[in-house]
Amino acid sequence: MKAVDCIIRNARVAGTGNVRDIEITDGIISSITESSQAGAKDIIDAEKRLVCPPFVDPHLHLDAALTVGNPDFNRSGTLQEGIRLWGEYKKNLSIEDIKSRAYRAITWMVSQGTTFVRSHVDVSEPALTGVKALTELKSELKGIVDIQLVAFPQDGIFTFPEGKALLEKSLAMGIDVVGGIPHNELTREDGIKDVELVFALAEERDLLIDIHCDETDDDQSRFLETVAALTIKKGMEGRVTASHTTAMHSYNNAYTIKLIGNLARAGMHIIVNPFDNSILQARGDSYPKRRGITRVDELLAGGVNIAVGHDSILDPWYPLGRGNMLHALNLLIHIAQLAGYDELVSAIDLITGRAALLLNIQDRYGIEEGKPADLIILDAADEFEAVRLMPECLYVMRSGKVIARTEPSYSTVELSRGREVVDLNFHS
Ligand code: FE2
Repeated sequence: MKAVDCIIRNARVAGTGNVRDIEITDGIISSITESSQAGAKDIIDAEKRLVCPPFVDPHLHLDAALTVGNPDFNRSGTLQEGIRLWGEYKKNLSIEDIKSRAYRAITWMVSQGTTFVRSHVDVSEPALTGVKALTELKSELKGIVDIQLVAFPQDGIFTFPEGKALLEKSLAMGIDVVGGIPHNELTREDGIKDVELVFALAEERDLLIDIHCDETDDDQSRFLETVAALTIKKGMEGRVTASHTTAMHSYNNAYTIKLIGNLARAGMHIIVNPFDNSILQARGDSYPKRRGITRVDELLAGGVNIAVGHDSILDPWYPLGRGNMLHALNLLIHIAQLAGYDELVSAIDLITGRAALLLNIQDRYGIEEGKPADLIILDAADEFEAVRLMPECLYVMRSGKVIARTEPSYSTVELSRGREVVDLNFHS
């Protein structure tokens, strides 16, 4: 009998519907089998619960996390007041402050199943304190939580004299991804320059791209077409992401059909952030109010890769949140109307495999023999129940090591048929 380090018995392996035993040796998934005969030091019985790779949060602002209420709460709930409050807060940033808030947010996220994060970091601030803090935290957590950092010019690249130099300087400090914010520049022409510079810097340094793009309700904000065109012309297919793209909600259909074709041809990824954008967008509308979400169903049907981001946890833009990717996904299902059965059962891909593809980590991500034993066990019978119940994450494992555990909660009722434990799973 061969010895393995750990066996997860009775795992409902995500994406297959099959119940299998997963053997783990030296941090790697060594076998996925119907019934393991191996001996192991550790055995975890998943009891036919869903086992999937850890969640990926592809869009977060860790430097601003947990700053809500400081120096004040966002009283109007608008993007403009959020930017003003963050502008106030960041005058007094320190490395210790950012690291302790970000670390705390990460403990929340890991306990709820997320171990891969792409975080934007504001590079409009003269001392680049956020970059220093988050690159330190990234190395401290190496191998436990993978953090990709995006240089994010929150205030624009060409709106103030030092903008371009700060962005360039940050790229030499351990940044993985170049970001831009064309719709925040002073003019349309500067917005194009913003995108062109991002591509030039990414090409020079062989970095990925993730641009905050067209995060507005203005149907004339059309920088996404430039991003798609440059991706195609420069042969950067698969390496470019546009985040938010909320203006697409308001484009006319003839324009959007052409655009989605180009996005698919460019192999671009789009990130949707339902928490922030459901609250921040369409603030200039009276009634009826538009939904502040890009065209998720049409993009998916057009072959464009989509993923969901948490974006904010308790910051000046979004005052709620607990770092739970299933909550973000559940909200998107509602506002993007992804309620068809096939859409529901595949929705979890938007916070797992599709997000991993965008981070370019697909070679080492997934429940497959030979891949690192990075997985989670959810207190749900299958993918449908996971998005419906938003259940607790009972185990989080990285490289075969359990890094978070949650005891399943349960309720009892005493009605006309005596005392019983309530099972919220409809499928079981
Ligand atoms: Fe964002």
